[in-house]
Amino acid sequence: EKVLFNGEMKNRDQITIDIEDRGYQFGDGIYEVIRIYNGNMFTANEHLTRLYESAEKIQMAVPFEFEELKSKLTELVKENGLIDGIIYLQLTRGTSLRQHHFPSEPVEPTFVAYTRDFARPLNKMEKGVSAKLVEDIRWLRCDIKSLNLLGNLLAKQEAAAVGGFEAIQHRGETVTEGSSSNVFIIKEGELFTHPATNLILNGITRRCILDICHQNGIKVNEKEFTVNELMEADEVFIASTTSEVMPIVKIDEVEISNGKPGELTKTLQQHFNQLIT
Ligand code: PDD
Repeated sequence: EKVLFNGEMKNRDQITIDIEDRGYQFGDGIYEVIRIYNGNMFTANEHLTRLYESAEKIQMAVPFEFEELKSKLTELVKENGLIDGIIYLQLTRGTSLRQHHFPSEPVEPTFVAYTRDFARPLNKMEKGVSAKLVEDIRWLRCDIKSLNLLGNLLAKQEAAAVGGFEAIQHRGETVTEGSSSNVFIIKEGELFTHPATNLILNGITRRCILDICHQNGIKVNEKEFTVNELMEADEVFIASTTSEVMPIVKIDEVEISNGKPGELTKTLQQHFNQLIT
């Protein structure tokens, strides 16, 4: 299995990361997760565009042109014979003497991309999963897909510790997003999701779902909603590259939509299926 390392195809055991890599020491870098369906990258342009945007937001330059990066990733998928899986790619500011401010002399960023087999979570999508409410204690630039994920990890762990699939985070009364997904509710046939501000990551799957709604006459409200509105919603689901459209059927000890995936959620799953197959 090959890994892309600073633009070159390598074996995993040929790669070394310096102990003073700023990604390793500070989480000073960004990443993306791209889904591969049937050997093809799904929404690669959107993911790569977001990568460049994240880089710009932390004053980093991506050391490849867009099309060059895309073709290298395509090559990686082919080389590894990946059919159903993901590409993980990350870019750090590079290696320099440990100091908090950016290196005074320009340094080479560290780029890594590798693939992993990953099956669609079909069973979970059919039955729905449970979630735990967790206070959102993250910083105020959640729009950047940064390697600094401690807040997200602590949230996910709180959910995992009680057998939950995802943590649904809220800042005070307002529901923001999952630890690694966006959150949606349905009330009286209308969809609600947090607007794409600095408080959430504007998910690519989120954007696909909003497009599906627009094309099918389902009313979308990119508006904040409260924890109470979440708990009293007709349907709840989360969305991400790996979870697709994932019904939430229990939050803490409360059943949502009678403990079964809701009808509109299932309709959105069907539309999403058509996009990827
Ligand atoms: N997570 N919000 C957060 C905080 C996320 O980490 C993710 C993705 C999303 C959904 O984004 P997208 O639809 O573009 O995958 C929302 C990825 C999959 C991860 O960290 O593994």
